[in-house]
Amino acid sequence: MLETRFKAVIFMLLLVWSSAPLVESAIGVNWGTRTFHKLKPSTVVDLLKDNKIPKVKLFEADPGSLEALMGSGIQVMVGIPNEMLALFSSSPAAADLWVRQNVTTYMGKGGADIRYIAVGNEPFLTSYNGQFQNLVMPAILNVQQSLVKANLAGYVKIVVPCNADAYESSLPSQGAFRPELTQIMTQIVQFLNSNGSPFVVNIYPFLSLYDNEDFPQDYAFFEGTTHPVTDGNNVYTNAFDGNYDTLVAALTKLGYGQMPIVIGEIGWPSDGAVGANLTAAKVFNQGLISHVLSNKGTPLRPAAPPMDVYLFSLFDEGAKSTLPGNFERHWGIFSFDGQAKYALNLGLGNKVLKNAKNVEYLPSRWCVANPYRTNDLTNVADHMRLACSVADCTTLNFGGSCNGIGEKGNISYAFNSYYQIQMQDARSCDFDGLGMVTFLDPSVGDCRFLVGVTDKGSHSSSSQTTYQRWIMVLFSIIQGIYYFLM
Ligand SMILES: *[C@@H]1O[C@H](CO)[C@@H](O)[C@H](O)[C@H]1NC(C)=O
Ligand SMILES: *[C@@H]1O[C@H](CO)[C@@H](O)[C@H](O)[C@H]1NC(C)=O
Ligand SMILES: *[C@@H]1O[C@H](CO)[C@@H](O)[C@H](O)[C@H]1NC(C)=O
Repeated sequence: MLETRFKAVIFMLLLVWSSAPLVESAIGVNWGTRTFHKLKPSTVVDLLKDNKIPKVKLFEADPGSLEALMGSGIQVMVGIPNEMLALFSSSPAAADLWVRQNVTTYMGKGGADIRYIAVGNEPFLTSYNGQFQNLVMPAILNVQQSLVKANLAGYVKIVVPCNADAYESSLPSQGAFRPELTQIMTQIVQFLNSNGSPFVVNIYPFLSLYDNEDFPQDYAFFEGTTHPVTDGNNVYTNAFDGNYDTLVAALTKLGYGQMPIVIGEIGWPSDGAVGANLTAAKVFNQGLISHVLSNKGTPLRPAAPPMDVYLFSLFDEGAKSTLPGNFERHWGIFSFDGQAKYALNLGLGNKVLKNAKNVEYLPSRWCVANPYRTNDLTNVADHMRLACSVADCTTLNFGGSCNGIGEKGNISYAFNSYYQIQMQDARSCDFDGLGMVTFLDPSVGDCRFLVGVTDKGSHSSSSQTTYQRWIMVLFSIIQGIYYFLM
């Protein structure tokens, strides 16, 4: 009798422990798919596994990604895009269908380990002018009901990734949600708390620096600062802690100061702006990881509750909008083709990042400005503008890695970016005779002229023999001499 009671207590303790929302600090990644050159989802999942990355966040229920994640053991957060909130806030049936088609299908034995559903993505961003604000809570309730019906509500937790501009203050201890958000935030936080969900927030010291010339640069990093922020007895030496504690104070004001916090996005871009470069990105991300894994916590949470952090981002996404700035396409710790941009110790077992394996590149050839024809300047400008309106030319601008490659370099870069997006279709390098295909890599210094990748598995540079490659290089050299002599 006593023994059974003892067993029951142990069992209940285990239950409580295993249903606790957070049990360990861990580094995860955001896997966005707004790229022109997609790697095979299975290649990406192998990359995650090779780097021992235990958690991944998806912005939507991308079928390819979710299928590839099945059986991987990687924990998944799946997002519901803001554009779908209106539907789910008004239609329980639509929410049911979404859960069935986009969650239940992938789960179960040997399935994907979906742990969180993110309802909306930064729905309270000031630039949305409140258009999603009143949809969030009704959508949460409908999706939660759908999870209950699907028998998943105990395992899959709803969260709402918030942008840091949802709260504000000059000192962390004064933190409060924006006045117009107080009511909705109170409802959301009450729901999260009763559901055992954490508060998910995106923190971007880079944007603080980018938006504000007076922001002390060293305060954005973790290496110590000449401009510490003194807040009562607490001294802040980095923007991350300051921001985190501002949220803690805002949650405390609502009566939920102990609520677990997950960092849904954080990172540093490596290109596309002054201050966005490989060195800064590496120093920031490494500093962040060491800070998180040191379990020192922050001044308002010194007891160091474990912290989940999803780096932004896994890859560069060349098809993203540049509205926030040209840097928006360059947040990856890996470039678009799964190659590590710099040495980074994720604290997960490997000392440095491992590159993606078996990436299928298009053949090694590039489209460049035909050196014999570039005097046709107005026509060139038109073609360049068109190419860059489709393809990614962000690195050409001030602060970018290809700024300073000269006028002809600019043209070639634009032509090539376009040509690669068109899967190297010969016609896409014509540009009224202004373009020309070459087999010699036109990259200069840090400015990389890309070769596209394909997830189709139909082309592969490895299908070219060394012999064929040499013939093509020889062809390019002869071509070069020909144009030189003309
Ligand atoms: C599942 O998610 C995808 C990606 O967001 C979306 O296109 C699709 O409409 C969703 N399915 C349902 C039934 O809502
Ligand atoms: C890289 O960015 C950092 C700040 O983000 C800046 O201090 C540094 O000068 C930049 N380096 C180069 C080579 O531009
Ligand atoms: C190359 O293009 C960039 C971006 O449009 C521009 O800032 C730069 O001045 C151009 N360089 C030349 C030499 O035209």
